[in-house]
Amino acid sequence: KRVGLIFGGKSAEHEVSLQSAKNVLEAIDKDKYEVLLIGIDKEGKWHMHDSSHFLLNAEDPKLIALNKTNEGVAFVPGETQNKLVKTDGKSALGELDVIFPILHGTLGEDGSIQGMLRVAEIPFVGSSVLGSAVSMDKDIAKRLLRVAGLKVADSYTFTRATRENISFEDIEKSLGLPLFIKPANQGSSVGVSKVESKEEFNAAVTEAFKYDHKILIEEAIRGREIECSILGNEYPKASIPGEIIAVNDFYSYEAKYIDEHGATLQIPAELNEKQVKEIQDVAIQAFQALNCEGMARVDVFLTEADEIIINEINTIPGFTKISMYPKLWEHSGISYSDLIDQLIQLAIE
Ligand code: DAL
Ligand code: MG
Repeated sequence: KRVGLIFGGKSAEHEVSLQSAKNVLEAIDKDKYEVLLIGIDKEGKWHMHDSSHFLLNAEDPKLIALNKTNEGVAFVPGETQNKLVKTDGKSALGELDVIFPILHGTLGEDGSIQGMLRVAEIPFVGSSVLGSAVSMDKDIAKRLLRVAGLKVADSYTFTRATRENISFEDIEKSLGLPLFIKPANQGSSVGVSKVESKEEFNAAVTEAFKYDHKILIEEAIRGREIECSILGNEYPKASIPGEIIAVNDFYSYEAKYIDEHGATLQIPAELNEKQVKEIQDVAIQAFQALNCEGMARVDVFLTEADEIIINEINTIPGFTKISMYPKLWEHSGISYSDLIDQLIQLAIE
């Protein structure tokens, strides 16, 4: 099978996507799959053939083994010439059996590229248009989760058009402090702030509006941060849960990817059997409530009273070195390369 790996993209999570793509590329079974790399740069330009390597780590010798002709030759890093996928330089997408979009955030995880692939009739890994779109938008996702009887943090939604109605005093009275302010459509905590005062609040609102026309102002949930991976279509299964132990304020972009000591991952999370079962059930219910397919990572809070409050669902979860999605499956008995294999099979079944 010929697999196209689309990575990079215009979103604020471009760099995260590169790291994810590198790991997926490393893990994919190259005896079974021929890989075509499709890089999207920060300007949104597609690099379908010999130039996609620049988006990955060009220093990595495994990635430099590629043919530099202009006729369009995809490559399997470190593999022999006969594993290369010949393309005519134009119709590469059409020659693929399946696409693995390993893009995070806007345009990659929000249904946009999924819509394009659907129109092009190319099977792809992960949720389709609807599941991707409603999961990406934290405001819509929360509404659907509430309707499904699942718990989410109380919050207010504002758009640039209703921004003037934001009153710190009213929100503080209703949700208390601290508050979390988030762009509705973002990932990796980009544009997210935790605020304790009116001054911080105003700056955080401005920051969040940089990334989206819609923002959420949420109560802070006191609880442990637990993540659970889901795999499957109609009959999704849940991994063992893991825990994020953030060192500083919260599990910010910096704590995730920049500061090595910003957070610790505890896999499996220290939970009793009942807690594990309940978290897995809630995660599957959330996956189904949001019409997800293939894969997702469900992030929840577990309060002292053992309440499970869903924080969010990631339909293209990170596959970076610190990312929980593949790690949780490894600890649940599915190796990285088996996981990629299963995800591809779920896309073409
Ligand atoms: N949005 C990042 C990639 C994650 O959820 O892992
Ligand atoms: Mg996310």
